Amino acid sequence: MIPSIETCFELMDKYQMLENIKAHSIVVTKVAHVITVGLRNAGLDISIEKVVAGALLHDIGKTSSLGTGRDHSEIGRQICLENHLDETASIVAEHVRLKSHNPNGDYSEKEIVYYSDKRVNHDGIVSLEDRLAYILDRYGRDKEGICRAIRINFELCKKVEKKLFKKLTFSPESLAHLAENEEIGLT
Ligand SMILES: [Fe+2]
Repeated sequence: MIPSIETCFELMDKYQMLENIKAHSIVVTKVAHVITVGLRNAGLDISIEKVVAGALLHDIGKTSSLGTGRDHSEIGRQICLENHLDETASIVAEHVRLKSHNPNGDYSEKEIVYYSDKRVNHDGIVSLEDRLAYILDRYGRDKEGICRAIRINFELCKKVEKKLFKKLTFSPESLAHLAENEEIGLT
C-alpha cells in the first residue's frame, strides 16, 4: 500500500516528528517531485505517489532514534513495515546510503529520494558540495574513517545526479528555483 499525503502527515504526528524535520521533509518532497515529473516527461515509468510518500516519510525514524545511537533509516524502515507500507519501507531504508546503484540501469524512486535528501540542508536547497561540507563538519570532525565513508557516499550521489540529469531538461543548479515554486498540496 502506498500512503496518501494525508496519511503521511498522520504518521509524522503518530511518530512525533519534530517540526524542523517535518519542514526538511516537505522541501525534500518538493525537490523529489520536480525530478519525478521531469523523468516522467522524459518517458520514464516512475511513480509520483511512491516518491512523494518515500520523501515525506524518509526521516520518520528520526525521533525514535534520538539518543539511542541506532540507525534512523533502519528504524524508519521498521515503522513503515509495521504500518504495512512495504514499498515506502524500501525507499526509507536506503535514503542515507543506496545499497546498489547501476549508472546505466533502470531509474528508481529510491534514487530520487536518496538524491533529493542530499540537496536539502535543514529546509534550504543547496548543492551537493554544500551539503557534503555541512555533513563532514557535523558528523566527521576529526574522525577519519567517518569522513572517508561520507565522501564515498557523496561520490555515489554525484553519479546518481549525473544519471538523473541525463534525462532531465533542467540543470542541478536550477532545481532550487523550480522546487521553491512547486505546489503539490503539502501545506
Ligand atoms: Fe535521514
